[in-house]
Amino acid sequence: MKFFLDTANVEEIRQAASLGVLDGVTTNPTLAAKEKKPFRELILEICGLLPKGVVNAEVVSTNTEGMLREGRELASWAPNIVVKIPMTPDGVRALTVLHGEGIRVNVTLVFSPSQALIVAKAGAYFVSPFLGRLDDISSDGMALLRDILAVYRPYNFSTEVLAASLRHPMHIVEAAKLGAHIATMPFKTFEQLFKHPLTDRGLEAFLKDWEKARETLGEILEPAARPSRR
Ligand code: E4P
Repeated sequence: MKFFLDTANVEEIRQAASLGVLDGVTTNPTLAAKEKKPFRELILEICGLLPKGVVNAEVVSTNTEGMLREGRELASWAPNIVVKIPMTPDGVRALTVLHGEGIRVNVTLVFSPSQALIVAKAGAYFVSPFLGRLDDISSDGMALLRDILAVYRPYNFSTEVLAASLRHPMHIVEAAKLGAHIATMPFKTFEQLFKHPLTDRGLEAFLKDWEKARETLGEILEPAARPSRR
């Protein structure tokens, strides 16, 4: 499963990227607006932090012509940009054309298996079902993901399923169990994936025991090679 960070915050992306398990970033107009920077500058800064990953940048036009212009422009900014387009009839028209031009498109705001089928037929690179927003209205987001994967399976569509609007670690685990290609998550959720109280408690006990026997055990590293203790 690929991990994407659902943010446009450069510091969060820098921190997550340093761990070596980050495959990409998803931004949207709401996330970009929080950063208070020119959009092009922001996206290029993010692209620079993830030269081997993909960066999803969204159009804001709502008609096909505008989406085509913005999509081509966004794709020209850096080779690792994927253009995000909303799931509307105009969006699907734009997707068809951009796919034909070799531009990678992520279709966003997907809430039903029928929408997912359409965008796979039209050549979407990613499809983004919003699981958390369905859960928010007492619907079953995970059931949508299961249905999309089920309808894609018999046809071997190349579209990758990007589980979006994830809110907590179990969303990611459940999406992985179902076989979603990608999970995009807020930085807070990414951090939560690493945490377990037994890991912290276990490490604390190991270090305490080591400290007690320190005189006998000595040091692993020669004095000159020792890093300063935090
Ligand atoms: C991802 O591409 C979406 O923009 C994002 O996951 C939406 O998440 P939200 O429902 O938490 O805003």
